[in-house]
Amino acid sequence: MNTTVPTSLYAQRRARLAAQLGSNGIALIPTAPERQRNRDSDFLYRHDSYFYYLTGFTEPNAWLVVTGDGTSTLFCQPKDLEREIWDGYRLGPEAAVGALAVNAAYPITQLDQQLPKLLENRDTVWFPFAIHPGLEQRVAGWLNQVRARVRYGALCPEQQRDLCAPLDEMRLFKDVHEQDVMRRAATISAHAHARTMKTCARMLREGKDVREYHLDAELMHAFRMGGSQYPAYSSIVAAGANACVLHYRADVAPVRAGELVLIDAGCELDGYASDITRTFPADGRFSGPQRDLYDLVLASQEAAVAATRAGARFNDPHDATVKVLAQGLLDVGLLDADKVGSVEDVIEKRAYFQFYMHRTGHWLGMDVHDCGSYVEPSEVGAVSERNDPLSGEVIKNRPSRILRPGMVLTIEPGLYVRPAEGVPERFHHIGIRIEDDAIVTAGGCDLITRDVPVKASEIESLMRA
Ligand code: GLY
Ligand code: MN
Ligand code: MN
Repeated sequence: MNTTVPTSLYAQRRARLAAQLGSNGIALIPTAPERQRNRDSDFLYRHDSYFYYLTGFTEPNAWLVVTGDGTSTLFCQPKDLEREIWDGYRLGPEAAVGALAVNAAYPITQLDQQLPKLLENRDTVWFPFAIHPGLEQRVAGWLNQVRARVRYGALCPEQQRDLCAPLDEMRLFKDVHEQDVMRRAATISAHAHARTMKTCARMLREGKDVREYHLDAELMHAFRMGGSQYPAYSSIVAAGANACVLHYRADVAPVRAGELVLIDAGCELDGYASDITRTFPADGRFSGPQRDLYDLVLASQEAAVAATRAGARFNDPHDATVKVLAQGLLDVGLLDADKVGSVEDVIEKRAYFQFYMHRTGHWLGMDVHDCGSYVEPSEVGAVSERNDPLSGEVIKNRPSRILRPGMVLTIEPGLYVRPAEGVPERFHHIGIRIEDDAIVTAGGCDLITRDVPVKASEIESLMRA
């Protein structure tokens, strides 16, 4: 259970949700299943984010039911001293009522018995669509049991609705408690990056054989020493050319002086993710071509940061990034103006895509790619069409989300240079990304990951220290 946040906060969230279900609505929220890794061994358990958002409860085998009148019912593992000897403490339904401020709690073994009763005489049943395999069939089974009773005057819900819609909208805006946890997660991760940079340079100075997994171990050490439960996603530790593989993992490749290392890693703290990327020279000194591209990516990030403020659109930081990168690619000779034309042409034809093929950010929260619509809700009907210049596909555009205080997003431009015709050799295999996490504020944004340096000269001094 999360003890850092008051129980009343979860009750308030459930009340806000209940108010959106309709007076005769009911919402079903299972937590995540335990998953087997291999024989007798499970993956480390991680609760479901929606369930946790509404309960703060981290045990497996639990369901929450919320009804439109504001009643919350929890199903959880019953107390079982023998199982607790093997698997650890269970809260149990009796204690859950007080500890989680729910109205009622039952052992999970009663779920199939209680659910038809709870669903009877409701008009709408809400549950998260397309998240939990088999959930739709389970709900159908309970509804069939209610239907069998309609001849006795029971009403069976006629509507099924996606619970993700209201919950995503709630989760998109982080309250002060969430922002506080996210700041702490970001600080732990920033220190982990700084420590890893220093370790890398020191090990090379000492003549050691440095591998990507050594740096991964440093990150993990710092995450756990900082109190984080686990990484928020699989850490990317990519030496040299591996940085150009966007979803690379930490592996066995040697980390060599003269090459760059790209690390994309962030810890999860009390259910909230952080997401940081730094790219640094393994031995603490950028070469000329590395520095040229690094400074370009950083300038594009600065433009994106300046475009991140309440009232701007989610797409604005991306557009600002692309503008700087497009001009920079022409300036450094990665794109040839004789072939691709002006900076406007580079943007229009998406010629930069060869070197920058992802978006500049995403929502960040409990999930590293957090939920929340990227389209402004009041403008979903304002559809325009354009032809994608690279694929020729017709793309439907809707106005992107207007940023508001309390939204949290990443700002993560990059450049990835694979050898190709016309690409100057001095840039081959250079992959750079710089990623920070930002809380949108009224006047701009608050970068919460800057306890690790980002300027090339500051990274060099840290690594020499
Ligand atoms: N680490 C995942 C991402 O940057 O989106
Ligand atoms: Mn990210
Ligand atoms: Mn990342």
